[in-house]
Amino acid sequence: MSFLDAQEWTFPVPIAYGPGRLKEIAEFCNRAGTQNPLIVTDKGSAALPFVSGLQNHLSKAGLRSAVYSGISPNPRDDEIAAGKAQYRAGNHDGVLAIGGGSGMDGAKAIALVANNDIDLWAFEYRQPAPDMADHPEFPPLITIPTTAGTGAETESTAMITDTDRMMKWCIWHADLKPAFAILDPEITVGLPANLTAWTGVDAMVHAIEAYCVPDFNPFCDGMALEGLRLVAKWLPVAVREPANIEARGGMLVGSCLAGIAFQKGLGLVHAISHMVGAEYDTQHGLTNAVLLPAVLRFNAPSIEGKIVPMAQAAGLSDTSFEFFHNWVCGILDEVDIPRTLTDIGVATDCAPRIAAKAMEDSAAETNPRASTQEDVQAIIIDALTHGR
Ligand SMILES: [Fe+2]
Repeated sequence: MSFLDAQEWTFPVPIAYGPGRLKEIAEFCNRAGTQNPLIVTDKGSAALPFVSGLQNHLSKAGLRSAVYSGISPNPRDDEIAAGKAQYRAGNHDGVLAIGGGSGMDGAKAIALVANNDIDLWAFEYRQPAPDMADHPEFPPLITIPTTAGTGAETESTAMITDTDRMMKWCIWHADLKPAFAILDPEITVGLPANLTAWTGVDAMVHAIEAYCVPDFNPFCDGMALEGLRLVAKWLPVAVREPANIEARGGMLVGSCLAGIAFQKGLGLVHAISHMVGAEYDTQHGLTNAVLLPAVLRFNAPSIEGKIVPMAQAAGLSDTSFEFFHNWVCGILDEVDIPRTLTDIGVATDCAPRIAAKAMEDSAAETNPRASTQEDVQAIIIDALTHGR
């Protein structure tokens, strides 16, 4: 495809950025049309100050709310069912998704099924989408990221583990879009250094994988490169100086841009990482970070034309593949990412099984270099043993 072909590009949702914007949550709820939202977050965030802060801001404005925090790091279908039950029992009329990627993915999945009796897996990305004409509308959804990395705040897509098959699937519906995404860098200040690093590298991977998808989409490409520029500039600063609001803001916006860019697709880092996460419950960004160098080496022959713009975005003086790859490895070293999949607890004999599953992941379809199951197996062995 090129400028000679017809194209359709869509862009997501209203975004409210700024330190302290969480205080305005009641106003955003009113504008979105929810008076009794269910706050959905992950187990790890339930006791953190932003959840109680959110409830205080709501109750001061006379809005009711309740919290469902049963979402694990790799959200599962049974957790979504429990959240849906609480939504209905509490007569809620909206969903506030607050957390990292898992909290927001869980919230989005609950919003998909809260008002209807459609099976969760009917929303699987590659199937024809359920016709919502005969069902109630999806509830209003407001997303509030508490990490800078997943970029999950502007889209309705969610990665959920199917507990029957122990595989992760992407679910979504085009009609479910957040009414607002609220980007408040103050919320991310309390994030520990390891999570700042892991989620931040996830954003970097989104920018790189989205930009390398061969589809023609200049809007997403522009966002991917600006996302990469911001992450390259601010990730090491945010890890080193956790209270630096400018760095936290740069990361939050960079992550959001990279998150929008990946509506173009992702690649083998995510395809493999989804399946590793489903089996070993490894943190998503950390798994991606460990896989990135091995996937870059595999993709090298197919991304020659992409390296110069990415190297320029990252501010590198040399635009060769080797220099870019070394820069990526240097950032991973700087933010203390372990070197191999073995180092993060993945079994050394998993490669054939994970490779077979990864081939079924939608992100594998948009990888810039075509791959066989044997290729993917070789990448996993590389990441298990050599890493970077
Ligand atoms: Fe990701």
